[in-house]
Amino acid sequence: MTRFAPDGPLRGTVVAPPDKSLSHRAALLAAMTDEPVSITGYLDAADTNSTLAAVQALGALVERRDGSLVVRGAGLRGAAPAERIDVGNAGTLMRLLPGWLAGQADGRWTLDGDASIRRRPVDRIAEPLGLMGASIEAREGRFPPFTVAGSPLSGIEYRLPVASAQVKSCVLLAGLLASGSTTVVEPAPSRDHTERMLAAAGASIARDGDRVTVTAQDELELGALHVPGDPSSAAFHAAAAVLVGGSRIVIEGMGANWTRTGFFRILRRMGGVVVGPLEEPGGGVPVEEPVCELDVCHGPLVGTVVEPEEVPLAIDELPLVALLGCFAEGETVVRGAGELRLKESDRIATVVDGLRGLGGSIEATADGFVVTGSGGLRGGVLEAHGDHRLAMLGAVAGLASREGVDVVGMEAAAVSYPGFTADLAALRGS
Ligand code: S3P
Repeated sequence: MTRFAPDGPLRGTVVAPPDKSLSHRAALLAAMTDEPVSITGYLDAADTNSTLAAVQALGALVERRDGSLVVRGAGLRGAAPAERIDVGNAGTLMRLLPGWLAGQADGRWTLDGDASIRRRPVDRIAEPLGLMGASIEAREGRFPPFTVAGSPLSGIEYRLPVASAQVKSCVLLAGLLASGSTTVVEPAPSRDHTERMLAAAGASIARDGDRVTVTAQDELELGALHVPGDPSSAAFHAAAAVLVGGSRIVIEGMGANWTRTGFFRILRRMGGVVVGPLEEPGGGVPVEEPVCELDVCHGPLVGTVVEPEEVPLAIDELPLVALLGCFAEGETVVRGAGELRLKESDRIATVVDGLRGLGGSIEATADGFVVTGSGGLRGGVLEAHGDHRLAMLGAVAGLASREGVDVVGMEAAAVSYPGFTADLAALRGS
């Protein structure tokens, strides 16, 4: 157990650790190119190391040079045969990689991962890839391990049943290898990193309202990529600074892409003082991933309602919204977030049980939760259930609580943010 107890304000500057979503995509797209790609700021964490191991198994060469990575790819149509790909705990790797593999004529690859990954569904990618001409055989028709058999693909128009950047990205990657054009229609905007990186790689990709269309490519050309700081990781420090009396911190180098910063908009709406330039929602497919510096201060909060269309823009930070709700005046409601049940843990159940165990007043609903502000949390023991974001939630809850929190399974944080405890300690001056 790791103990996090209240011991005064957070002060100072933290550099947001590299973005997990962008690191996965950088390694995958680099593996799909023919020329070497240099990646600076690649995240060194369990999930993104699984992606490096996967692309190496598929024929890419990865060299570490002066703090950057150089990936010599296998080429868009050159994925090598591999016995079995271990995705570890990484849902993004598990759902994006098959998009590339599906278009490799005559290849077969089996993907598997840890106990958590084995309960995460893959029928959501099997369906569109099947419509394009590939075949996926999964355990019980929908769970890992599963085997992707590549084939010549045809472009499709695919309407996503739920907003998911992972499924959208998978179909777009397959679209690079499919005849004609491939369009994904989104029920609500989700993170657009794949689109931006494909545009940077010279792919023909366009957005028209809720439709993203990609056409078949001969090759991708990337050259160099820089991975900015992860808003989902920085969100834990921002929440701690807002909740712990007297705090004031600066977060440097954080990605400001509007499709990733929904949490910071929710935090502002709840009364949190978050000063800094977040990207404004816009149309089209920008090539850049903007970066910002944020100033975050302690202050009183009021409850809010998070509506379904906001959910994909803050999906990984919704556990933190529940925590903030415990400290806010009035009710905080999250709706339309049934996807939380399919994350590294069932995050509706684990967040509700976890925060109740610390004295919070929170009810689960089928697709979210309702929190009644109760002036803060007593403290106690929080079980991470092997979920990195639950572990970090427990740490922040501990600093903001009256009596402190013992987190069981803090090591799970290494999935996305191995330096989390040290960075938090530095902000506490310890
Ligand atoms: C991710 C998309 C989200 C998110 C996950 C990372 C990505 O999943 O929860 O942590 O990198 O595309 P869904 O697209 O399944 O909602």
